[in-house]
Amino acid sequence: MINPNKEIWHEKDKEYFNEYSAPVMENLQRLHYTNINSTIPYYGPMLYLLVRALGCEHVLEIGVAEGYTAFYIANAIKDNATRFGMAGNMYYGVDICNHDVHHHLTDRGLPNKILYMDSKDLTSDTFKDVKFDMIFQDGDHSTEAVIREFELFWPQLKGDGKGIWVFHDCYGPAEEGFQELRRRFERKQYNVEFVRFFGIYGIAFIRKMNGYDEAKRHWVV
Ligand SMILES: C[S@@+](CC[C@H](N)C(=O)[O-])C[C@H]1O[C@@H](n2cnc3c(N)ncnc32)[C@H](O)[C@@H]1O
Repeated sequence: MINPNKEIWHEKDKEYFNEYSAPVMENLQRLHYTNINSTIPYYGPMLYLLVRALGCEHVLEIGVAEGYTAFYIANAIKDNATRFGMAGNMYYGVDICNHDVHHHLTDRGLPNKILYMDSKDLTSDTFKDVKFDMIFQDGDHSTEAVIREFELFWPQLKGDGKGIWVFHDCYGPAEEGFQELRRRFERKQYNVEFVRFFGIYGIAFIRKMNGYDEAKRHWVV
């Protein structure tokens, strides 16, 4: 098992943080085996903290690439299991290209199941019976793929306001896909709350509201 405390910063990270000092991020990123994704540097730590804050057990990422965000999500999944005594927590990933992320995560004791395949070949049996707390969609940005993936995995996202679909690039290359989804939300094809941020290429959070009890009070004095 690799002790992450002994790893040194990636050479490219040294250059990055020399130019843009950010001690908090630097100390997070020094644990990573790959360099910071300089296009979306904040989304890795953001996803770690979001997965922790929401207490997620099962998270799917469509579009793993070299594992920049995968590393943060898988750590959060593992740390939630430790903190909350959960069993079976898992990071699930899909990518058409194999960058050996499975081994990088496994070497660090991070629970993962990664499939190297085209998302168009995914079926409802691929992750049969898994209920996801979060799905991070960041793979094929074509409208066709975005909609197909959404239709396929939306039923496997937890309801009751607990499941969150994180949609990257809603103001970037997947903008048309998001607009198509938004039209479907307006037609009430899906029961959602959503918010978009400009961020970098845009990020949307779509919350699954099926079964959510609006009359219930969660704060009782
Ligand atoms: C923007 S990158 C993902 C970045 C990653 N989420 C991160 O932040 O570190 C998009 C990834 O989607 C993958 N991809 C593109 N088309 C795909 C498809 N049809 N099926 C599966 N993966 C695909 C690419 O191979 C690429 O690794």
